[in-house]
Amino acid sequence: MQKVLEDYIRMCYDGFLQGWHERNGGNLTYRMKKEEAEECRTLFTSSPRHIVLPIDARALAGEFFITTGSGRYMRNVPLAPEKNIGIIRIDDDGSGYGILWGLEDGAKPTSELPSHLLNHISRMEVTDGRCRVIYHAHPANITALSYTIEPDARTLSRILWQSETECAVIFPEGVGILDWMIPGGTDIAVETSRLIRKYPAVVWAFHGIFGSGADFDETFGLVHTIEKAAEIYLKAKGAGIIRTITDDQLRILADAFGVKINEDFLG
Ligand code: 13P
Ligand code: ZN
Repeated sequence: MQKVLEDYIRMCYDGFLQGWHERNGGNLTYRMKKEEAEECRTLFTSSPRHIVLPIDARALAGEFFITTGSGRYMRNVPLAPEKNIGIIRIDDDGSGYGILWGLEDGAKPTSELPSHLLNHISRMEVTDGRCRVIYHAHPANITALSYTIEPDARTLSRILWQSETECAVIFPEGVGILDWMIPGGTDIAVETSRLIRKYPAVVWAFHGIFGSGADFDETFGLVHTIEKAAEIYLKAKGAGIIRTITDDQLRILADAFGVKINEDFLG
């Protein structure tokens, strides 16, 4: 199997092993490099199913994506990739896409495809094209944490930075949070893509998280770090927090590791 598909499948299953993908929860898209799409060309059908998009994806015209299927289970991806994931190509005018491989038995890409594609556009722009992965997961701790705070990026980012020393180095911009909205639609996609321009990850209150990154390791690692920090915070809160990492310590940390911490979130 093509290496890019192997790596993609591994990430799907890794998320399942973490407990982040109950049932069909969560989804993953990867914007393929030209050479990766070329390597997969032998798999492509000559008569792709065509689907119209509810968003303008002109900025992604001609791009190839690997995507999970809507209603498909991450748990099953390694068993039958051709049924649970697929490769799509965005039309030249950005109005829809063709399904070139996979998503067999009439499956469609994730219902969160509008969020994924608009997030790809945002992150491509702010990372000079480095970002290739958008990942949506349902980790329990970050979701639980969203019940304990107002939906405010400053509050959330400070909690996470204070909950594990490396957090401020891994996401010095902070983490965004969107208040509850109906998932699967264009409205939540637009709002998320606005926030993800500023932050590499955005929490959906009472639902889960969207993370982004240049590759599978970076993206999985980001979500893993955020989820672990949320777990530590909730454990510490339950036990009773009597002290925490100070803002001065966060500044010293950022300096030592050569990252630019979001000063708006420091006191
Ligand atoms: P899909 O099965 O359509 O990917 O939806 C899962 C999900 O997590 C929706 O937010
Ligand atoms: Zn979800």
